Amino acid sequence: MPLIRPFRLADADDLLAIRNRWIFAVDAALYSAEQRTSWVTDRRPDAFAKSVANGVTLLVAEQDGRPAGYCGHRVEGSDGRITALHVDPEAQGAGLGRALLQHAERALFARGVPRILVQASLPAQPFYAAQGYRVARRHTVPTGGGLEIAVAAMEKPRPVDAARAVV
Ligand SMILES: CC(C)(COP(=O)(O)OP(=O)(O)OC[C@H]1O[C@@H](n2cnc3c(N)ncnc32)[C@H](O)[C@@H]1OP(=O)(O)O)[C@@H](O)C(=O)NCCC(=O)NCCS
Repeated sequence: MPLIRPFRLADADDLLAIRNRWIFAVDAALYSAEQRTSWVTDRRPDAFAKSVANGVTLLVAEQDGRPAGYCGHRVEGSDGRITALHVDPEAQGAGLGRALLQHAERALFARGVPRILVQASLPAQPFYAAQGYRVARRHTVPTGGGLEIAVAAMEKPRPVDAARAVV
């Protein structure tokens, strides 16, 4: 099992580098070079600490002592939401994405949410489908540089046997 721990301020540059590396690693048949360039312009390292200040729980997966992936989640209204899930291209396929997602799902379902929502990029949709999410709606969202990208709103219902925290 990979080491999964809470975000630290010192992780910010590494997490931004992971995010930018995977965006540029996406198949050009899914998102054009112009779309990917537009996408990476909207984020600065302090965005991670700001998201935590705004209620996101940010988990980091380490590989060989370095951040190799991260996942954000929070409760929105009565639902849970995965706000981000990115694994470094060099670390993909080793189970980090699933381990991070399972941590986030356990925490959200323990808080009693009836479903978890995620806005999934095109390359991530088969991964989420394999983890029990279904597409509710396909749409586009703007990126920082102004170009739109296609995504899918996906959701996973609370499993009947999910543990609920005693409060
Ligand atoms: C999607 C992503 C998070 C998956 O993380 P990962 O660490 O590569 O995935 P894992 O190694 O944990 O794979 C878990 C399972 O999902 C499968 N899987 C992973 N990526 C997949 C994909 N793109 N399509 C289909 N199956 C996939 C794996 O084969 C594995 O299946 P198994 O249980 O049969 O072995 C990661 O590839 C990533 O960061 N991609 C780019 C960023 C992205 O799109 N993030 C989501 C934004 S909404």
